[in-house]
Amino acid sequence: MERQRITLANQEFLHGGDYNPEQWLDQPDILREDIRMMKKAKVNAVTLGVFSWSVLEPSEGEYQFDWLERIMDRLYENGIRTILATPSGAKPVWMDEKYPEALRVDEWGRRRHHGVRHNHCMTSNAYRRKVREMDSRLAERFGKHPGLLLWHISNELGGACYCPLCQKKFQEYLEEKFQGDIEALNKAWWTTFWSHRYQRFDQIEPPFANGEGSIMGLNLEWKRFTTWNMTDYMKSEIEILRSITPQIPVTANFMKLYPGLDYRVMAKELDVISWDSYPRYHNDYERLYDTCIENAFDHSVMRSMCKERPFLLMESVPGAVNWHEFNKQKRPGMHKLAAVQAVACGSDSVLYFQWRKSRGSFEQHHGAVVDHLGKDDTRIFKEVQETGKLLEILKPAVKSIVKAKAAILFDWDNRWAIEDMKGLSQQKKQYEKTCMDFYRLLARLGVEADLVSREDDLSSYRAVFAPMMYMIEKETAKRLRQYVCRGGQLLATYLTGYVDQDTLCYLGGFPGAGLKELFGIYAEEIDSLYPSDKNRVKFADGSSAEVRDFAEMLRVQDAQILGTYTEDYYAGGAAVTRKSWGENGGSAWYVGARLEDSAMKSLLLQVLEAAGIPICEIPEEVEYHCRENGKYRYHFWMNYGKDKVTISEVKGEDLLTGECVQKEIFVDPMDVRIVRESREQKM
Ligand code: GAL
Repeated sequence: MERQRITLANQEFLHGGDYNPEQWLDQPDILREDIRMMKKAKVNAVTLGVFSWSVLEPSEGEYQFDWLERIMDRLYENGIRTILATPSGAKPVWMDEKYPEALRVDEWGRRRHHGVRHNHCMTSNAYRRKVREMDSRLAERFGKHPGLLLWHISNELGGACYCPLCQKKFQEYLEEKFQGDIEALNKAWWTTFWSHRYQRFDQIEPPFANGEGSIMGLNLEWKRFTTWNMTDYMKSEIEILRSITPQIPVTANFMKLYPGLDYRVMAKELDVISWDSYPRYHNDYERLYDTCIENAFDHSVMRSMCKERPFLLMESVPGAVNWHEFNKQKRPGMHKLAAVQAVACGSDSVLYFQWRKSRGSFEQHHGAVVDHLGKDDTRIFKEVQETGKLLEILKPAVKSIVKAKAAILFDWDNRWAIEDMKGLSQQKKQYEKTCMDFYRLLARLGVEADLVSREDDLSSYRAVFAPMMYMIEKETAKRLRQYVCRGGQLLATYLTGYVDQDTLCYLGGFPGAGLKELFGIYAEEIDSLYPSDKNRVKFADGSSAEVRDFAEMLRVQDAQILGTYTEDYYAGGAAVTRKSWGENGGSAWYVGARLEDSAMKSLLLQVLEAAGIPICEIPEEVEYHCRENGKYRYHFWMNYGKDKVTISEVKGEDLLTGECVQKEIFVDPMDVRIVRESREQKM
């Protein structure tokens, strides 16, 4: 049974961000200014303590928390609540000196020196003990502080350690997983290939950069282990906090679609999902809309991990970061668009990294609300202030949620398996991009989609899109079959059902695991196309579409053929099919080739129609979302384009102007509109 999540006690959208007063303790005037300016910018929450260990515990066992209490008090007195981080993201020097085992070992087997951050072994008992000691003291001291809103575990947990402790834990993990049967592991990993058979579990090394990297099952299991071990570490922090402060929810800030950890596994342990968003706005290789819709995809991945609850945007930059290839400033208006986008996608916060720029060190040139200039009349400060005002206006929408009728399967294990598979075209596999393309096409049709894992319950969705589900175990295949038999619309594509959970290929035709019967087809071959190769798929209505990158040759058993190839040795062969299932109206659609947008759009329209999902075409370069609660629907439009657009058939109250909208609204370039519609009014 899933654990009951603790609810975040926010009555308003959180506005604020990472605050590092420990860097300025010797300058009380600056700290006073901070409070004054925070109030002016309508800041109501800050994250404290993310990297404060060397100030909280300057030498082993010498805890100094008074400064933190003074700051938390002062913030609270001024209406600002605290998200309190555990400081385990970076270690003080005394710890690495005394407990060198806590230092991380890289994939070449080299122990790192002291320094930087995120440089620790997640297994080391010494490290875990020191962290727990710190966490318990923080919880004891601040657990009842009226300003404490949320625990923030460490910082952007990530990476992997290859030290002997981790290696041993990996072996134990495998031994347990394969129930002590090394032959079962040899079979699952197909180790007779290249004579890689293991005799004992203690012979198994992680996939070192200069070691074993040729066993797909091992590579995948190492990724799973890394997630498991990181989750185990994170739980050791959470447990101690929960034992002392059971009423305070817990989060950990995720990083975009970080490939190294399966966030869905970690999410189960958290009360609140939060993440850090740093898109490359205004770049020179895509439209602003494309940058933003990718960010919407990321927001939606986070949102889908905490269905029925808002997530938090934990970090974003008010100006420019310092780690992109080109650190371009957010253009005027971008800040508002990005903030509203986060809220529209289901975030209950707009938080920044960082409140004030540090004077020195690694992030001294990273954007902040308050620059080295120290003034509150800057463009960026004013835009942040405007955002604060806007969030106040939006207050009634807090805790409302986004409800999706469609889902896209986007699965971490599958990501890892596809990334690691040798074949097709390494460059063009592009699993993430393919999922995003589905998301974008649906968004253009005004259809909200959740991004779900292959283990998630699909019953609340009327249509499920499952691009490139290369890795499918029997259990998932069974659930997909049930989904269609119960009336669901399921669309899968080329590269479906090639391997099982250990990455062993299915025999007897792809898709395996009983999916051939579901789709009524099997793929006899898959071809990779050079960018200059030309092929097309022709549809019954006379339209045709370009094939890109991959094409499967389908053998049709009992499905309707919707499209056939026009060129090459597979001309005339089936490329797109549909098999209808029973009285419930379910269908299994199969798209055997990567097709250009126009064809995918028309296929999606057919699937959505069969699913009874209403569509509403959204103007070019405009993004739309809807949040709802029992009483209202909040409609959000963001226009990233250069032209003013008209949105028709809108009724309600424009939340930003207070005007009553009867029929249509206009959205100016680089602007937003938010309309509140009463749910009763529709009846
Ligand atoms: C985040 C990190 C912050 C800060 C920020 C800079 O990934 O959590 O501590 O480094 O990046 O953009």
